[in-house]
Amino acid sequence: MAIWMPDLSSGDGPKYLRIVEAMAEDIAMGRLPAGTRLPPHRELAYQLGISPNTTSRAYAEAIKRALLRGEVGRGTFVRSADNDPARADPETLRRTDTGPIDLSRNLPIPGFSERHIRRVMSEIATGPGLRSLLDYQTDKDLVHHRAAGQMWLANCGLDVSVDRVVPVVGGQHGILCVLMALLQPGDLLLAEALTYTPVLAMAARLGLQTGAVVMDAEGVVPESFEAWCHAANPRAFYLTPTLQSPTTVTLSAARRATIAEIANRHDVILIEDDVFGPLKRDKPVPLAQMAPETTIHVTSLSKTVAPGLRVGFLSAPRKLVPALHQSVNLSVWMTPPMTLEVASRLIEDGTVAVLSDQQRVTAHRRQQLVQHILGTDTVPRVPEGFHVWVPLPAGWRADVFSAECARLSVRISEGRIFAMNAAEAPEAIRICVSHEPDEDRLVRGLEIIAGVLQQKPSGSSMAI
Ligand SMILES: Cc1ncc(COP(=O)(O)O)c(C=O)c1O
Repeated sequence: MAIWMPDLSSGDGPKYLRIVEAMAEDIAMGRLPAGTRLPPHRELAYQLGISPNTTSRAYAEAIKRALLRGEVGRGTFVRSADNDPARADPETLRRTDTGPIDLSRNLPIPGFSERHIRRVMSEIATGPGLRSLLDYQTDKDLVHHRAAGQMWLANCGLDVSVDRVVPVVGGQHGILCVLMALLQPGDLLLAEALTYTPVLAMAARLGLQTGAVVMDAEGVVPESFEAWCHAANPRAFYLTPTLQSPTTVTLSAARRATIAEIANRHDVILIEDDVFGPLKRDKPVPLAQMAPETTIHVTSLSKTVAPGLRVGFLSAPRKLVPALHQSVNLSVWMTPPMTLEVASRLIEDGTVAVLSDQQRVTAHRRQQLVQHILGTDTVPRVPEGFHVWVPLPAGWRADVFSAECARLSVRISEGRIFAMNAAEAPEAIRICVSHEPDEDRLVRGLEIIAGVLQQKPSGSSMAI
């Protein structure tokens, strides 16, 4: 196959920037599709008759601009626009009772938390502490809020002292703070082969290399993690051991123990994303409990109380806590005391535990509907949490399937948007049961999906 050759005949400025600009244009024009592997920078330099330093600088700049992503041992690839949350369609975050039925987003089921938040906000508004909540605060002032975080973490199965708790502005901000605090440009960040892709966008902006850890039906494969440790000296491994998105898998206690042991032995930081943990009963203990000296645990109230609160908590080995506070400082100065106060009161009076139960029970009922409508062949086990992962029958391509659903006014997510390597994405879809406020619309959406599953795949499904 011919290698990609930028057209440098026009334009001025440094050559490396002209390469980046030609690349951006070829991506925008579809001449360089997402997932395309670029030639090694030495080869491109040879073909263009320029120094390898210039092409290497161009690739580094393109990674910084999120045009490319580098994968250690595999090469450099054109990023998928779908992987960049900055480009995701914000319209799909709106919840409405009209228009397309949206089963694409992993939001909490609405309607449970409003009255509790209204009550607590009016208590705060009329109470004596309002003035200090409206002021700048340091992390020392937040002791009370960190203690509430400690209570919430105990609810997540984690026993930590208050000085190891760092309040953040939701889970996503927490992950960004960890990456900013502990990784340097060029460091290797591992993630599950199917992952929460905003983390890849963050990695690209921070100039990190990324590597995909292989997954099987039981989740991430410890041997693949170990192989990365031997081959490429990763700095950190980001993973979601409980109710993984998109696959729903919860990693067994045995696999967790193996991963914790490998991380300890190779001195790799584990970033344990536990935002869905409170939605699962009877789960194995968190990685952070098994490997407290190497794991940073990320949790949030977004999936159980309200994403608009923007409250989350990190818990970290004591030696890493100051760097995490610095990241919070640098990015937002302080996690807003007002929202932290609302969250803390809801944690302390037991409301958050009740809300978590309500989400869990309602999600379970909705998941039973999914199995009932799509059938036990398609959904053999009723999953917990908000999403279902459906490998498609042979012959279906996930993009064609989701386009057909969209044509019938149902939004779902195709597996490719979660894939670190688009070329290796499984032909599967993720359906979220929690996005639609109205269960009748959920049922209608599922019936439409069941109808598409009955169709013959490919050409015939797109002919209308
Ligand atoms: C796996 C995962 N981690 C983190 C987050 C971020 O959650 P938050 O709203 O707390 O930032 C999400 C949100 O969808 C998620 O799916």
